Amino acid sequence: MQEQRHEDRDRDASAFPCSSKQDAERIGGLRRFKRRVWAIRGYLHFLYGLLTSYLYDIGRYHRAASKGNEAVRAGKSRHTELRSWIAADAHKIEKGLALREPRPGFGKPVIRRLLEELARYHADFGPDHITEMAVNILTAYGRFNREHDLGDADFEAQVAGLASDLGSTRDPERGGIVSVGRGAFLEKARLSGIADFFRSRHSVRNFSDEVVSMDAIKAAVELAQRTPSVCNRQSWKTYAYLEREATQQVLACQQGNRGFGDTTGGVLVVTSDLETFFSYGERNQGFIDGGMFAMSLVYGLHAQGLGSCCLNWCAELSAERKLRVLTGIPDHEAVIMMIAIGHLPESLHVAQSVRKPLSEVLVGGHVDGKRTIK
Ligand SMILES: Cc1cc2nc3c(=O)[nH]c(=O)nc-3n(C[C@H](O)[C@H](O)[C@H](O)COP(=O)(O)O)c2cc1C
Repeated sequence: MQEQRHEDRDRDASAFPCSSKQDAERIGGLRRFKRRVWAIRGYLHFLYGLLTSYLYDIGRYHRAASKGNEAVRAGKSRHTELRSWIAADAHKIEKGLALREPRPGFGKPVIRRLLEELARYHADFGPDHITEMAVNILTAYGRFNREHDLGDADFEAQVAGLASDLGSTRDPERGGIVSVGRGAFLEKARLSGIADFFRSRHSVRNFSDEVVSMDAIKAAVELAQRTPSVCNRQSWKTYAYLEREATQQVLACQQGNRGFGDTTGGVLVVTSDLETFFSYGERNQGFIDGGMFAMSLVYGLHAQGLGSCCLNWCAELSAERKLRVLTGIPDHEAVIMMIAIGHLPESLHVAQSVRKPLSEVLVGGHVDGKRTIK
């Protein structure tokens, strides 16, 4: 657009023939100068837009996001914040129970914090489906320890107290682990209808020794390429590590695979090439398109009968540098996430990871006859 404007001006100027060589040189110089000024103006405009946009993001994130577990310690109890802490801590226990060989008594600091968070939440807001899930996970944890000769009567009584807050509406099956058989998993992933396909995918944190073939990864990536992207720019890239040593080196840069990383058959690193984007308005687009691609890839892996677990890249700068040096991922690619992959053992446990009620997700627009446009 800007270039078009320059061309129009240049055309206007050349409509007047120059009287001498000197004039022509002067006009040529002027044009070059104007072009440079326009380029600098465009660059400054971009820089200003990028900076103000990031400042806006910083302000919003700083105002909104949880700042550690102060919600509990400082007596502050913002509803969503506390809920998110409960969900995250309960999930830590749930996924610990889903490992191949959970260590009896694991996660004591998380358990203490979770009990505190739950007591506070019940006092301030009353029980709900999030605390129901957390209480059920704690119940499963108490049972697991008891079955491994590490029962704790006080702990179980405390959890029973929280369970009684929930009353008769509590569904004891919501939250905890479920057993999955490899046969049923493969059948649902490959032969089922679309609803079963979606519902049968779980994050897998227990893999068999069977080697993952590059052909299966290629097939999954090829499916994931069907993901939509802004202007079809397809910024995504995948780095696949299937040999044991490389897999372990890559996983060592990431924080969330403790307890199961050593069983994985490989790891994928999904990135998004930021050179694909132009304007400051697109500063987050790489994460959106890359995230959507990663989701498709996870389903593509599921369709290949492979288990997978997304692994966060909420990495400190030192980890980011370490990964880039190790893998050669260039600076202009943003790391979106890693995905642990592998074949399933004959039977395994997966975390239920209970979902919120639909009414908390489908919240605006035109829902149940109510319009939310003001
Ligand atoms: C971006 C992203 C990062 C994640 N990071 C981790 C991780 O580091 N470690 C882990 O065990 N699970 C991780 N997960 C898996 C989530 O815990 C899991 O998807 C969630 O609990 C829902 O369970 P489901 O995948 O079984 O449906 C991650 C998921 C996403 C989408």
